[in-house]
Amino acid sequence: MPAVPAVAAEDLLALAERLATEAGALLLDGLGRARTTIDTKSSATDMVTEVDRASEALIVGGIRAARPGDAVIGEEGADVEGTSGVQWFIDPLDGTTNYLYGLPAFSVSISASVDGAPVAGVVHDPSHGETFTATAGGGAFCNGRPIRASELVDLDDALVGTGYSYVAERRRLQGPVTAYVLPRVRDLRRYGSAAIDLAWVACGRLDAFFEEGLNAWDRDAGALIAAEAGAFVDLADDLVVACGPHLAEPFRALLTAAGA
Ligand code: IPD
Ligand code: CA
Ligand code: CA
Repeated sequence: MPAVPAVAAEDLLALAERLATEAGALLLDGLGRARTTIDTKSSATDMVTEVDRASEALIVGGIRAARPGDAVIGEEGADVEGTSGVQWFIDPLDGTTNYLYGLPAFSVSISASVDGAPVAGVVHDPSHGETFTATAGGGAFCNGRPIRASELVDLDDALVGTGYSYVAERRRLQGPVTAYVLPRVRDLRRYGSAAIDLAWVACGRLDAFFEEGLNAWDRDAGALIAAEAGAFVDLADDLVVACGPHLAEPFRALLTAAGA
């Protein structure tokens, strides 16, 4: 595949940031009107609205117009083959359940990879006017200000985020993991947008996060932002683990003991 010059990561980020901001405005605009346009996907609780689809169309259209040779994968069905070596992953609305209930924890997540490695990522949280960004090797930022992951050392004191699958069978396995982890940390949080969870690990609002079964569009942008903020990040074995660097060993050991 053709190599993309180092400078291109900044260009990819600028495009992602512009489109995420436009899509975020669209999400805010549709808030409260989405309940009437529900459809379901992988299970009866996995909902999709017209707003998810409109947001994806906006982002895909923007990428196609600016960079017609890039591959694009979107959660709502976009699947464009490319020739440039750049591949985009888009979650046009991460946190659809929150969105449907008017809970202000939803985001737009966009990442760009070169030869399979994420080089630019944006998580835009329109409710709070926060845009988290990173390029590989270029650091992580929130609204342009540098961010760092938690420096916490003791897992007992860690505030840990997690999330659950839409598939009941998988949730049955996730329940006992939660029961094991909960008494061994400060507390657990389930915000409902994995992209925001990872961005919040990046800025230290969460000390750690784990979730099984996430897709590239949920996780790649946030994982790059967390890693660039100094967090430990592991995406192996269908389990996303992100935490402050000093928690890496005990947190992984805890999750292994929990059966995650
Ligand atoms: C979901 C959210 C949620 C996570 C689920 C995801 P969606 O994405 O990120 O926090 O727990 O696993 O599927 O469906 O709202 O885009
Ligand atoms: Ca998602
Ligand atoms: Ca989504």
